[in-house]
Formats: sequence, C-alpha cells, structure tokens
Amino acid sequence: MSGKPSNKASPRLAIAVLASGRGSNLQALIDACAAPDFPARIVLVLSNVPGAQALTRAEQAGIATAVINHKTLGSREAFDAAMRERLEASGAELVCLAGFMRILTPGFVAAFHDRLINIHPSLLPAFPGLHTHEREIAAGVRFAGCTVHYVRPEVDVGPIITQAAVPIHVGDTAETLAARVTETEHRIYPQAVRWIAEDRVRVEGAKVVIDGATSAPAIAINPEPTPRGSAD
Ligand code: GAR
Repeated sequence: MSGKPSNKASPRLAIAVLASGRGSNLQALIDACAAPDFPARIVLVLSNVPGAQALTRAEQAGIATAVINHKTLGSREAFDAAMRERLEASGAELVCLAGFMRILTPGFVAAFHDRLINIHPSLLPAFPGLHTHEREIAAGVRFAGCTVHYVRPEVDVGPIITQAAVPIHVGDTAETLAARVTETEHRIYPQAVRWIAEDRVRVEGAKVVIDGATSAPAIAINPEPTPRGSAD
C-alpha cells in the first residue's frame, strides 16, 4: 500500500478497521461514517478472532469482513503477510487499529508507514500496554485519558494525533474508569480519522501537526481547588 490508489471510486477516504473484541470503537467509526458529510468510509473490518463482536457490528452495517486467525497461521510473519494481502486487496488507504490485540511485526508497520493509526486508553506515553486503568488507579494519578497515534514498531508508541484527559474520581474502579475513558475514545477516534481524511494531518518527525486545529482552551485541575475557607 504505497501511495493512494489513482482510480479512486469515491472521494471519501477508504479505511480498514482491525479489531479483536467488543468493537465499540469500530461502532463509533461506523456511526461517524454514516453521516453523509463524513469524509471516510469503511471498506473492510478484519479480525484475528472468529466470532468477535466487532465482526457482527460490521455485518449489521453491511461492511465487508475478514477473519485471519493467528492461531491457524504458523508465525507472526505469516499472520501479518496474510493481513497485508487482504488489506491491500481492500483498497484501504488508512488502517485503524480499534482494540486489535496482536503485536504487529516491524515489516507490517513499515508497509503501512503513516497510514496505520491506533487508539490506546491512556495519556501516552504514560501507561502503555495492558491493564491501563488498574495501573493508573494504583499509581494515584489524577487524570486518565486516551490517545490516537500513528503506529510505530514499539507497542503503543508513535506520533500523537489527539488526546483526551479524563479525570479519575475518588472511588473509581478499573471498570468505572474504563467506561468513562471508552466513551471519550468514541469521540476522539472519529475526529482523528476526519482530520486525516480531510488531509489536514502531517507527521513531522516525532510530532503531528494538524492544519487549522486549535488547542483546548481550558486547564483541568483534579481535584478541583476549593475556595479558601470553604472547608470550615
Ligand atoms: C479500547 O479501550 C482501546 O483503547 C483498547 O482496547 C479497547 C477496545 O475496545 N486498545 C488497546 O488497549 C491497545 N493498546 P473496543 O473493542 O470496544 O473498541
């Protein structure tokens, strides 16, 4: 997948979504793409898990699906080669990882350089990897969050497109925090895809520049400062 296909049938960016499980971020992308003015369309949903809920969501939306089961392929390289072949055949110009729980080979990542994005449920580079929410609560940090970033060979590393900060409340469990973060993921992932599809996103070294985007106006403080004397 080098360069955009020259015979584009649609001006909307063709995206493929890779998902291993529940697929709630896929659903957010499906819902976004349903809007007539959204500049992207999903051409393929690919899963490594037969029966994943993400596949059902895609089928219900009339989107082509594929399963490439890593358990039936001999090696990581064979799995990635099979995925690459299927993605190239789909005509996808951008590949979105949405809860895709397989580590990708450097060769695969290189083949989709700056055309492969991921969503992760933390404010990267903090808390890469699994069990993010448990670790955030245990560490006592005041903000959790989520990040959409370009994929590099290292896990949960790469130029950051957008982030959202989500406060951690007293008494949060991993489940209550995850629910709040997931809801926020559903807002930022379609937004990131929209910016890319509008051709407003440039990777400059380790950073991403988004043409015409403005930074968040407010500083968030958690816990909220209490006015002097209010605890009396
Ligand atoms: C999401 O929270 C996503 O950020 C996370 O998996 C979840 C998938 O949920 N991804 C990672 O942890 C990748 N490092 P979903 O299947 O409902 O979209």
